[in-house]
Amino acid sequence: MKIDGKPYRTIWPGTDGVSVSVIDQTRLPFAFEVRRLATLAEAAEAIRVMVVRGAPLIGVTAAYGLALAMREDASNDGIDRAVVTLAATRPTAINLRWALDRVSANLRQVQAPERFAHAFAEAGRIAEEDVASCHAIGSHGARLLADRAKALGRPINVLTHCNAGWLATVDWGTALAPIYVAHNAGVPLHVFVDETRPRNQGAALTAFELNAHGVPHTVIADNAGGHLMQHGGVDVCIVGSDRTTASGDVCNKIGTYLKALAAHDNGVPFYAALPFSTIDWTLSDGVAEIPIEERDGREVSHLTGRLADGGFATVEVVSPGSPVANPAFDVTPARLVTGIITERGVAEPSAEGLLALYPERRKAA
Ligand code: MRU
Repeated sequence: MKIDGKPYRTIWPGTDGVSVSVIDQTRLPFAFEVRRLATLAEAAEAIRVMVVRGAPLIGVTAAYGLALAMREDASNDGIDRAVVTLAATRPTAINLRWALDRVSANLRQVQAPERFAHAFAEAGRIAEEDVASCHAIGSHGARLLADRAKALGRPINVLTHCNAGWLATVDWGTALAPIYVAHNAGVPLHVFVDETRPRNQGAALTAFELNAHGVPHTVIADNAGGHLMQHGGVDVCIVGSDRTTASGDVCNKIGTYLKALAAHDNGVPFYAALPFSTIDWTLSDGVAEIPIEERDGREVSHLTGRLADGGFATVEVVSPGSPVANPAFDVTPARLVTGIITERGVAEPSAEGLLALYPERRKAA
């Protein structure tokens, strides 16, 4: 995607061959800053404090983090230690675990001196595959949007939650990829962007992306979606996912479930868009089985923003002394999902539906 006419991805190998660069997402939308990650510790910290975030991008950063670790300790113990460190950074997004499993299995096939180069190349392949997957998700999802706009004979309103755009992946995004592809093809659409408290990924990141790409959009308070749906203001919802079970339950940013309930009650189609690396084939009951990240309560009790003079300030917004809780994700059961948009097409949200798109998993099951 482009910022000020310049093409960017969210992560790219450094010209020195021993580092990667990432866009610091804690600084957006007010400052565009690039960070260099050259060590395991730097990669793990970038994921933990959400310099990089979004399930697919976390996975790619972890893959590079494991490669960087091989410059420090390329022994089998070094692989194990790096995997433990990176896996502990964020527990919900399965892409992280998936990428670590893939790179570490690959690493064990080669001798220690070759391990850094081997893992770095594998991380690069994962990044390229992510771009291809997200673009394919965009093409499949754009057809749905075009059909809906055609059927209604007017511009359509799409509601999305959190940020599942190119900033959450390597490029294109998952939930926003269909919006970009459809917008580029001239499908008339407008996006309602949930602000997505507590960290405001919608207000800060999705709005930043849509602005940069010229997609018409409006940021709304998280609580406004149900009201808009009751009044015919939303024609389709599309969200991303951090982990999707083999049965089609979709775990995504906290608040997604409430949007799905409202969509169900109002007959609004509700889609989740995700690549294969987000599917956890070992799980079948998302509510019971997916670990939900509990983040620092300070994300709820405090807000950071830009002041009129251009400076930044963090302010307290909760009554001092009140306890706060901060579950970062929730699970939308498959029965509330209309379809799962993947790089292979749109699946019914069920075990059979997913297996029809991924028949190779049927053999493994
Ligand atoms: O906590 P975050 O910002 O990493 O959460 C991101 C989301 O919930 C996204 O919707 C999800 O990762 C899908 S990204 C393509």
